Amino acid sequence: VSVGSLTTFHIEAKASRLLTLKSENELPALCEAFRAEKGAARRPLILGAGSNVLFTGDYDGLVAVNRLTGVRELEPGPEGEYRFRAASGETMDHLVRMLTLSGHPGLENLVLIPGSVGGAAVQNIGAYGLEAAERIESVEICDLEDGSRRVLSCEECDFRYRDSVFKRPQAASWLVTAVTFSLPAPQDWLPVTGYKGLAAALEGKPLDAAAVMHAVEALRRAKLPDPEAVGNAGSFFKNPVIPELQARALLESYPSLVSYPLGGRRTKLAAGWLIEAAGFKGASVGAAAVWDRQALVLVNRGGATGRDVEALCARIIEGIERKFGVRLTPEVVIL
Ligand code: EPU
Repeated sequence: VSVGSLTTFHIEAKASRLLTLKSENELPALCEAFRAEKGAARRPLILGAGSNVLFTGDYDGLVAVNRLTGVRELEPGPEGEYRFRAASGETMDHLVRMLTLSGHPGLENLVLIPGSVGGAAVQNIGAYGLEAAERIESVEICDLEDGSRRVLSCEECDFRYRDSVFKRPQAASWLVTAVTFSLPAPQDWLPVTGYKGLAAALEGKPLDAAAVMHAVEALRRAKLPDPEAVGNAGSFFKNPVIPELQARALLESYPSLVSYPLGGRRTKLAAGWLIEAAGFKGASVGAAAVWDRQALVLVNRGGATGRDVEALCARIIEGIERKFGVRLTPEVVIL
């Protein structure tokens, strides 16, 4: 079964079985299919919107596509917070727009991030000064091994930069079924405009959530390729976190290096800056290329293979390590 079109890289691949989950009533059947795959070459793969995966060949196993839908408003929180429970297969961007434009601010900085609500939790998506974790109250899961259900508090999700418990071994058989978001009561909402360029873009405009959302949209459209038009999975690498001392030494040699002190003697570097400074902007392998407006994004110019992207990724990692002594790790899941 062809599964390439289920990913935003639009790179062709075949899976041995494909199952689509449309409602929670179908969970028992998915659990059964999951257990039946025990002896398969690859463990079952759960796909949301496919915006963070790269197939480098056919997938010799089961691919389950999460199409759980539904958004429901819950009772307000103790401080008047708006609370919404969204099924994990919902499109995050739809949810962000729907809530922002209906007078429920709090997620507007995350507009246009491709992916599903479930993926937003797994990956702790973030952009323009806001991380999903700051608005997630709890996450519901189903353990496909035995069908058991659990609700994890935000704390139990152990969110970090582009990381959560859902990426760790204990979650290997978990499917995120729903996410509950807690949004500040309107009188407590404050715009998040600390990100460079955002405050400037908002100057002279009313500082409401819709204005922030539209400013973020404009910034993203200017830099990032639309996956509908050019296959890609957003940032291909994570921004590396290195010891502060090493960052200081790098800054001496490269004063324009973009870095963010994190505390705890750690510093985060802008991987896009490193990649551009190493001369990789526009570099390519076959039809896989480094996006010329944001070097952190690898794109499929049309007809790229997963191997092309993987080779380009390896070349970049090697080049950055040689030049800066920093090792990049992919953010995208390479299969
Ligand atoms: N930069 C360059 N050259 C480049 C790219 C970036 O010099 O080719 C410099 C920029 O000038 C800027 C700095 O690096 O000073 C950071 O760039 P940018 O603001 O574009 O953000 P980023 O760190 O590259 C991260 C996220 C993005 C998110 C933006 C905005 C990661 C891995 N990526 O990118 O998220 O949209 O911040 O908040 O943390 C994604 O995860 O898929 C994604 C797109």
